[in-house]
Amino acid sequence: MARVALVTGGSRGIGAAISKALKEAGYDVAATYAGNDEKAAAFTAETGIKTYKWNVGDYDQSKAGIAQVEADLGPIDVVVANAGITRDAPFHKMTPEQWQEVIDTNLTGVFNTVHPVWPGMRERGFGRIIVISSINGQKGQFGQVNYAATKAGDLGIVKSLAQEGAKKGITANAICPGYIATEMVMAVPEKVRESIVAQIPTGRLGEPEEIARCVVFLAADDAAFINGSTISANGAQFFV
Ligand code: CAA
Repeated sequence: MARVALVTGGSRGIGAAISKALKEAGYDVAATYAGNDEKAAAFTAETGIKTYKWNVGDYDQSKAGIAQVEADLGPIDVVVANAGITRDAPFHKMTPEQWQEVIDTNLTGVFNTVHPVWPGMRERGFGRIIVISSINGQKGQFGQVNYAATKAGDLGIVKSLAQEGAKKGITANAICPGYIATEMVMAVPEKVRESIVAQIPTGRLGEPEEIARCVVFLAADDAAFINGSTISANGAQFFV
């Protein structure tokens, strides 16, 4: 039987590329989205990948949504916690709302996504947790105190889960994408974006498929000894 993968924020941007790559690799994939019904329907029509709507920042919604996915597809073997938002502002202008929204989605959202599937993974003795962090969780970023805090937090989550899951056949790893050609990066003012690309030795933005490839690698059954690691895919922009 095919393994089942859940990708949050899986119908757009990097998440869409991850959903498609996992499907191509033979997984039964469920992709979640937060708000855009039209785009999600178009994604399902194009790919055949089922989409589910819930707010990853809400524990009860996440738990109910995950129960529905498992009723439809079977127990979830692979979780890709990818859903994320930005609310960029220099710290002196950042509002408590901008802080909280990003914390709720990017950090608490990871807890809410992993926590409901964790007991089942422990019982079955298999699981793959893959969290999409960011280069900006590693190095910080002007205008992203909120976002960088969550993405650094993701690394703490996976390093702790890796230790807790290891004896139960569960691995937890993070991927830190650099600047990837998605709507999120395209929303950065053009001048700022140009200066960012100038800092990438590869000389271009990354492609979503280049991140999806890392996910397929980590999700595999034979990636069992890769646990608690961080894969950077950033065109040589930053080294830990
Ligand atoms: N380093 C130092 N100074 C900077 C700077 C930087 N990176 N960026 C802007 N500034 C300075 C400007 O030069 C300007 O200085 P002066 O006032 O002396 O002229 C000042 O900051 C601009 O300040 P403002 O108060 O006018 O800032 P703003 O309200 O216009 O907001 C910003 C600016 C929203 C932070 C904008 O610069 C921005 O969007 N930056 C990009 C942040 C970024 O990289 N986001 C990543 C999004 S993609 C993503 O998150 C995906 C991923 O994981 C990689």
